[in-house]
Amino acid sequence: MGRIVHLAIKCASRETYEKSARFYKDVFGIYETKNTYDRGHHSKHMTDGNIDLALMLYDSEDEKEARLAGPGARIHHIGLEVLDRPSMIKKIEDNGGRIFSNRAEGALKYHSPDGTLGEIVGVGRYIKKDMSPQGRIAHIAMKVNDMEVATRFYENVFDFKQISTKTDGGRVSRHMSDGDTDIALVSYPSEDAPEANLAGEGPCIHHWGVEVPDMAAALVKVRAHGGEVLAGASATAVKIRAPDGNVCEISPNGAYAAAAV
Ligand SMILES: [Fe+2]
Repeated sequence: MGRIVHLAIKCASRETYEKSARFYKDVFGIYETKNTYDRGHHSKHMTDGNIDLALMLYDSEDEKEARLAGPGARIHHIGLEVLDRPSMIKKIEDNGGRIFSNRAEGALKYHSPDGTLGEIVGVGRYIKKDMSPQGRIAHIAMKVNDMEVATRFYENVFDFKQISTKTDGGRVSRHMSDGDTDIALVSYPSEDAPEANLAGEGPCIHHWGVEVPDMAAALVKVRAHGGEVLAGASATAVKIRAPDGNVCEISPNGAYAAAAV
């Protein structure tokens, strides 16, 4: 089985890299742990205490991994902690995924059959820290082309469990869980459907989600620190665009656990 332990966001400039790090700290209390440089990119590792959030700044778009999730600012990949790496590599390939990285690479990247990018890492690569009282990374949403192919991949490879499937105006969203984080697979009736293109065309990691203790206070902070509120009316989930250009969704504490009941 696999557990989501890492989320990597590619920033398009030094300015948005620095600004978004301050934004996540000021708004969600997601705090810096270390800075690294490897394979042509700087990474600013941050955490909510549970999941490692890596902001990445590539030297150029021509670096080997820079455009794996598309050009420009992107939610680049998720990272999953796995116990048995060789058997996991086999499962990824048996279920239609493709291994991208050198097989000896500590953070081994793969393309899921739906095209999004993931990475498997050994247990303990990202250790847990003190939990932020201001925000918990609770949700990852992926736009998929084929709901059933994507579902089988996450069930068969990582043992994610299905929680619910809802259809709304042709948009299908299936929530799954790794036991901790809510993973939503979303298929839209077309690229013109509302919100379909918020993160660009085609399959992608569409947005990530943070649970907060006080929605109203969080949205005040979003605006004060350079974020844009995209949809304001819902009491349970509000999408924002962070200074790095990517979409994040804010929900009240416990929203995903409540939805799963
Ligand atoms: Fe990574």
